[in-house]
Amino acid sequence: MRLPQSRFSRVSLPFALLGGGALLLPLSVQADALQQQLDDLQDFQVIAHRGASGYAPEQTLPALELAHEMGVDYLELDIQMTADGELVAFHDETLGRATDGEGEGEGEGELKNFTLEELKALDAGSWFNQASPEYADDAFAGERILTLGEVIERFGTNARYYLETKSPERYPGIEEALVEELEAHGLIEAGAAVIQSFSQPSLLEVQALNDEVPLVQLVWYYPKEDGEERLVEWTGVTPGPSEIEDADFEAIRDYAVGIGTNLTYEDELQVIDAAFVEQAQANDLLVHVYTINEADDMQLLLDWGVDGIFTDFPDRLNALVE
Ligand code: G3P
Ligand code: CA
Repeated sequence: MRLPQSRFSRVSLPFALLGGGALLLPLSVQADALQQQLDDLQDFQVIAHRGASGYAPEQTLPALELAHEMGVDYLELDIQMTADGELVAFHDETLGRATDGEGEGEGEGELKNFTLEELKALDAGSWFNQASPEYADDAFAGERILTLGEVIERFGTNARYYLETKSPERYPGIEEALVEELEAHGLIEAGAAVIQSFSQPSLLEVQALNDEVPLVQLVWYYPKEDGEERLVEWTGVTPGPSEIEDADFEAIRDYAVGIGTNLTYEDELQVIDAAFVEQAQANDLLVHVYTINEADDMQLLLDWGVDGIFTDFPDRLNALVE
């Protein structure tokens, strides 16, 4: 198992001397830490999707603690914003699936309409015991939605964070709030943050605010019409994989270090292949693939030479890459 802590030894001393205050790193140390992050990204990355969310309720402390114990390279989190402007780690736009709050339909139980205090009153753990009885644990009951600040307070620079601006069009100002929070904790200069999004405008906004944080453009390929072979990309940021050209990857390379893509559509239809990975990498883009939970798929992607995999079961991936 790889231990990411060792990668932070070059920045841990200045942080310690500052007593946890992270704003006054010498410039040479900042540059060193950022370069170290980029160097590390050239190695294969194990990305814990919503934490070790196969084993514990996604984006809660138990899932993040477990992923951290597994020695993952990044903790992946979806970041949204509460009605009173707090950043929280939560995937769905609505609360019904992953909390005891109500609402999964349009306009119902939307996270953006809840204050942090209201969200903190919800149980974000018990649902997991129903959904995944094989990994159920009574202790998960009552787990709370976490703020990004709470996550950072817990793991500091002993972890790296792969943060998605989730549905950013719903949250005007989320990029500014996110960059501010990361800067306040010194995480960008520590080389501890990647920001990802399906929204190109959101990534460009982040870049305008701070051009040092590595960005990953998420893409999702799917057949526009049922039964059609031709694939399209959800937001149109690239053409479908069979039509993609070097210029399409180059356009992403202008602002991002990598591309994060699905492997399959509805677990059945494979949407990318080894040639896609090769072409992206030839255009100097890292290729990270989500969300891969079966060892066969992991091995296929490792054989293709992808640069990282998002998984709910980091231990399975660790077993293949160790
Ligand atoms: O961020 C990579 C992957 O997590 C994208 O899918 O829906 O799980 O956020 P989703
Ligand atoms: Ca995500």
